[in-house]
Amino acid sequence: MKITLIGTGHVGLVTGACLAEKGHRVICVDNNRPKIAALKAGRIPIYEPGLEEIVRNNCRKKRLFFSTNIKTAVQGAEVIFIAVGTPLGPDGAADLTQVENVARTIAPNLKGYTVIVEKSTAPVATGEKIKAVIKKYAPADASFDLVSNPEFLQEGVAIQTTMHPDRIVLGVESKKAEEVMRKLYRDFNAPVIVTDLKSAELIKHASNAFLALKISYANALSIICELVQADVTQVTKGMGMDQRISPHFLNAGIGYGGYCFPKDLNAFFKISEDIGYDFNLLKEVQKINLGQRDRFIKKIENELWVIKGKRIGLLGLSFKPDTDDIRESPGIDIARRLSERGAILKVYDPKAMGPARAVLPNLPRRGGGKIIFCRNPYEAARQSDCLVITTDWPEFKTLDLPRLKKNMAHPTIIDGRNIFSPTQMKKLGFVYRSIGRV
Ligand code: UGA
Repeated sequence: MKITLIGTGHVGLVTGACLAEKGHRVICVDNNRPKIAALKAGRIPIYEPGLEEIVRNNCRKKRLFFSTNIKTAVQGAEVIFIAVGTPLGPDGAADLTQVENVARTIAPNLKGYTVIVEKSTAPVATGEKIKAVIKKYAPADASFDLVSNPEFLQEGVAIQTTMHPDRIVLGVESKKAEEVMRKLYRDFNAPVIVTDLKSAELIKHASNAFLALKISYANALSIICELVQADVTQVTKGMGMDQRISPHFLNAGIGYGGYCFPKDLNAFFKISEDIGYDFNLLKEVQKINLGQRDRFIKKIENELWVIKGKRIGLLGLSFKPDTDDIRESPGIDIARRLSERGAILKVYDPKAMGPARAVLPNLPRRGGGKIIFCRNPYEAARQSDCLVITTDWPEFKTLDLPRLKKNMAHPTIIDGRNIFSPTQMKKLGFVYRSIGRV
């Protein structure tokens, strides 16, 4: 099928590449010229395992194209995906400027029948607005159906979660549009759920908010566990064995970050408020999440007393493993706060050093703090009074711990992701503090 994808962010680019991989002819459009030039030259702007190979492969096979010309890309497309950003606006609501712009730009260029897909994460009833804008600007002989097809990909495993999704959600208003979308996803071997437009839009916000709620629940439990000297990993393991609960997204730690959960929770709260419901549960989820960062700093203070002038190694700047994405990353926030308090920070991340340098300037701070970017975890640990772990990268789990210990001025580890066993760490002679465990 002939597909046009507008917006080459994480969702747009991965979706476009995966649809091309399944044999469709896909044009990915973006108004960011340097980005499109880089993609045409085979350079991928984000780190996402497996993506570069799929992009190159499908460009070579002439199934995947990149363009800045939205008008020509729209003409002849059977399906047009709107996958532009819906960032957090100043009032906590999703800023839908880009979605509106795209709707207005594509409308006059439509010919015959086209299915237009709302892929961007947007508040319930956005589809109605998109439809109204397109109707207003489309030529009289053009017809279209709007479909809501939310994306559930996870960064770091985006290819896997797009190629093999748990479900494909299709919010449709006509049988014809449903048939087009079913044909598009024919080779995806995933259950399809067909709903009305608004229910599909809600499934996305409801899912992200529920996953965030699960994490915050586990984090609240970790506080209880610390108060009574129990082990949160055992508690959540026992809970997760109940199939109704499942073990996923129950890992306590320094809380969730990333571009999606914080933004989507805000947007979901705001839209609920606007339509007449105070979804206060979501506020509590956010409060618990941010509280974990404060508690983590407190743990560091408990071990070091005064932060000012102390050397602290920090492992993990991306918001989760297997990505270079540092948006809303707890690791970046912790690094900033420690350096503001005058720590001499030695930071390391396997993939996010470049993006981190841009937001954590390597300059002496007020209060004497400074940030040193290290080449590996052992360098970050060297001469450190304490080492903190803020992202659960697999390579941190297999560190040579005796070597790490030898490098440190004092063998104290504060682990915000519970990647080591407390018993093992004690045996090795570390002062080891983690989350919700003794
Ligand atoms: C999330 C959703 O999981 C995707 O389904 C959704 O498509 C995506 O948002 C989106 O809306 O685009 P993502 O932000 O890539 O995906 O990352 P997650 O794997 O969900 O992790 C989010 C954060 O939660 C990370 O900081 C991670 O470290 C943290 N987390 C995750 C925990 O603290 N504990 C857990 O048990 C699981």
